Amino acid sequence: MIGYMSGEWWRRAVVYQIYIRSFADGDGDGVGDLPGIRQRLPHLRELGVDAVWITPWYPSPMADGGYDVADYRDIDPLFGTLADAEAMIEDAHRLGLKVIIDIVPNHSSDRHPWFRNALSSRPGSPERDRYIFRPGRGPHGAEPPTNWQSAFGGPAWRRVPSDRDSAPAPHGGTPDRTAVADEWYLHLYAPEQPDLNWRNPEVVADFERTLRFWLDRGVDGLRVDAATVLCKDPAFPDAPPGAGTAFSYGGGPDHPFRDRDEIHDVYRGWRAVVDGYRDRMLIGECWVPSPERLALYLRPDEMHAAFNFQLLQAPWDLNALRKVIDSSVASMAAVGAPTTWVLSNHDVTRHATRYARLDTTGGGVAPGDRAGPDTPLDPPTGLRRARAAALLMLALPGSAYVYQGDELGLPEVLDLPESVLQDPIWTRTNHEERGRDGCRVPIPWERDGPSFGFGPGGSWLPQPASWGALSRAAQTGVRGSTLELYRAALAIRREHPALGDGGMRWHDGEPGTLVLGREPGFRCVVNFGPATVPLPVHDRVLLTSDPLTGAAELPPDTAAWLAT
Ligand code: GLC
Repeated sequence: MIGYMSGEWWRRAVVYQIYIRSFADGDGDGVGDLPGIRQRLPHLRELGVDAVWITPWYPSPMADGGYDVADYRDIDPLFGTLADAEAMIEDAHRLGLKVIIDIVPNHSSDRHPWFRNALSSRPGSPERDRYIFRPGRGPHGAEPPTNWQSAFGGPAWRRVPSDRDSAPAPHGGTPDRTAVADEWYLHLYAPEQPDLNWRNPEVVADFERTLRFWLDRGVDGLRVDAATVLCKDPAFPDAPPGAGTAFSYGGGPDHPFRDRDEIHDVYRGWRAVVDGYRDRMLIGECWVPSPERLALYLRPDEMHAAFNFQLLQAPWDLNALRKVIDSSVASMAAVGAPTTWVLSNHDVTRHATRYARLDTTGGGVAPGDRAGPDTPLDPPTGLRRARAAALLMLALPGSAYVYQGDELGLPEVLDLPESVLQDPIWTRTNHEERGRDGCRVPIPWERDGPSFGFGPGGSWLPQPASWGALSRAAQTGVRGSTLELYRAALAIRREHPALGDGGMRWHDGEPGTLVLGREPGFRCVVNFGPATVPLPVHDRVLLTSDPLTGAAELPPDTAAWLAT
């Protein structure tokens, strides 16, 4: 296996997403941290993944789980120290794991020194120019500058004076109230996340410095948060009806803030920085509607990869999945980029729960589309499908992203008490939408204990009492457990010459089945139909997501890996 992850490792890696607050808590304060990650890294090695992606670990007031960054070149004390981060990167490398970190360029925290200086500076000042301040409309500028909506609900603009009453002045001085005039600032996400001005060369230069800071510390990749919304139409027009928010689809050169063409200059600059190091990569969080628009981010002088969210948005349906797989593979092949596959992440309803719905067409992706406690569900079916989907995903060409807890078959926690909800979506929608906390509940490691081994203390979101049975300890060595299924699949994927990067083709199969071929000698067959079907011709069964029945027959909602 030496050298498996050398070269363009991102073209075939299985990357494990660590949502740092919820992975492992080393110090017992109920929040996951770097010492916790260091303790548990060997388990990820045993699981068989190739890399980890760690969500933001920077100093932050945590208005959006750390996606509100107050200092891009340090670590929040809640998570540890810079020395802990350096030691974690070293540990990971020693274990043969690559490390991808999250970079959040669209917005900073409102507690970033730049924003605090902007608030206490005059309109038109260089301090304000690092963000997007605009005069309001209407009498006394009392109306927001545009009709743009925030991804978390409500207008995407906040007027300065109302904030300044509560915001302390920088360096503890008295706020300069004459400076506020009538300006508003843009926040495509929460008001605590003011948008940076990517037309300002100082912003561009500072981010390149941040990239170097982390690349110098050995990180292997950078996940670019909200990668498509950095550039705004300088004329600040109203958005047309249906334009959506930073979370929705739609965009292109004419959209006021989504997927505008100027954005590519930013990533060309970043690529030049990354190319100064060996074997490092950029992966973009690019929610764009068409494979053609996605491919633009992957031109040879831009990013190396982009998350492909098509699988995650597709229903559990043979034709729908086949279509998204074909279009994903074709569009990436056209630009020579690897396909990436994602079933779940920290922003969407976990797929064991999405697939448990009687109607799986509601993706669980847009904030308003998330399951609530009243959604009718069939959890055993959801888990069967989630396990089959894992085998399908890991058989596809390219790299795959596994969200922490997928390997345990964790469901979404739908009934978190309202009093514990922390996602800004909950407050920003006036408690209409529960938000994303249900997929962020801390991981159960042990059968029992105060937080099922998440840490020596409690956990920042309560774990369901039933999660002891889903813990890593409860599933280890248990034949047929979801954990052992992932382990077996990842071990085969590592060894089998047909898997990872490369080509694929569909083969004919029984009605209701998808038969994916990879050469040499590999088939993945998935049964989406209501009836048990015979397996296609094969030499040997390598792995199945649930037991076969009768004479090697594949039950509904089951996948098999076959040697042919
Ligand atoms: C991305 C992150 C999400 C965050 C948002 C704002 O979509 O994945 O968690 O809320 O950006 O930074």
